[in-house]
Amino acid sequence: MSLLSITDLTVHLPTGAGIVHAVNGVSFAIAEGETVGLIGESGCGKSTLGRALLRLSPVTRGGIELDGQDITHLNQRDLTTVRPKIQMIFQDNAGALNPRHSVGKSIGQPLRLAGWSAKDAKRRVHDLLVQVGLPETAYDRYPNEFSGGQRQRIGIARAIALNPKLIVCDEPVSALDPSVRAQIINLLNDLQARLGISYLFISHDLAVVEHIADRVVVMYLGQIMEQGARDTFWKQPLHPYTRALLAAVPSADPDAVRVKSVLQGELPSNLNLPAGCPFQARCPMATQQCREETPALRRAGSGNDVACHLVAPDTGATASHTVKETDRCPAP
Ligand SMILES: Nc1ncnc2c1ncn2[C@@H]1O[C@H](COP(=O)(O)OP(=O)(O)O)[C@@H](O)[C@H]1O
Ligand SMILES: [Mg+2]
Repeated sequence: MSLLSITDLTVHLPTGAGIVHAVNGVSFAIAEGETVGLIGESGCGKSTLGRALLRLSPVTRGGIELDGQDITHLNQRDLTTVRPKIQMIFQDNAGALNPRHSVGKSIGQPLRLAGWSAKDAKRRVHDLLVQVGLPETAYDRYPNEFSGGQRQRIGIARAIALNPKLIVCDEPVSALDPSVRAQIINLLNDLQARLGISYLFISHDLAVVEHIADRVVVMYLGQIMEQGARDTFWKQPLHPYTRALLAAVPSADPDAVRVKSVLQGELPSNLNLPAGCPFQARCPMATQQCREETPALRRAGSGNDVACHLVAPDTGATASHTVKETDRCPAP
């Protein structure tokens, strides 16, 4: 059974300049103990989607079901009973931690708010410090006395304090040095193995996502372009956008350089969504159909779900002609 299931989730944010179409009809599920990686360029709606799961972004349309409960329209009072199940960690935990609160107080705060006695909370915080690999002496110290990696451990301790079922990790290692990054990833993996937590892991670092995610979701302009399990996703990505994203990662492959040029230009404005495929303006293979019809997400022969008119749906037959064609993106 899915722990989290979102259906047609849509987040539109009114601003002075118009309505920002941040998330547009996204559906996917996360199983218990599963890590789903969410990737896509800056501004494509990843953080807004993550925040919507905690009901921190307003849900315009669609539904969120967590642990068998529809939480889409819960009022603030009822949300407090759900909040312990879903937590968030951020890229900048320094900003999320109150500099005037000791580490012990910061980690213990959600426990105290949930009604734990001071004594029980203190004992629990000491246990949490050990679980995330910090010395127990950290309890009385302040966030600014710690390195970025250690502050991330403090944020993780705070996030797991109430035994959440799901943690939305929003670029949690993007600001860290590679060696520290690996340690934090290992910590998240260990905690998942021991506690059975699920993660929505948001990152623009594809190497990290490849390492940690059981499944990958690719977003563009607030919509899913492609999703698939670890095994199929990296082996045979089919959407021209996914291929361009992957090719933008430094590579010795001369073809990769060519595909990288596909991603020139910016994400189009989300104030007015383009007709047809969201990616058509930057896609070197866009046809008239792509400019007119929005492609639905369909299972392709690779096993991934792909929203692209040029990728043939899975008919049970092996490699189709169109799939082969997308193997090589022509230079625009
Ligand atoms: N509070 C907000 N008010 C208005 N627009 C916002 C707000 N938060 C995010 N946006 C806009 O929504 C879009 C998606 O942003 P975001 O979810 O932060 O993307 P990502 O995390 O993928 O970089 C962007 O166009 C961003 O400018
Ligand atoms: Mg973001």
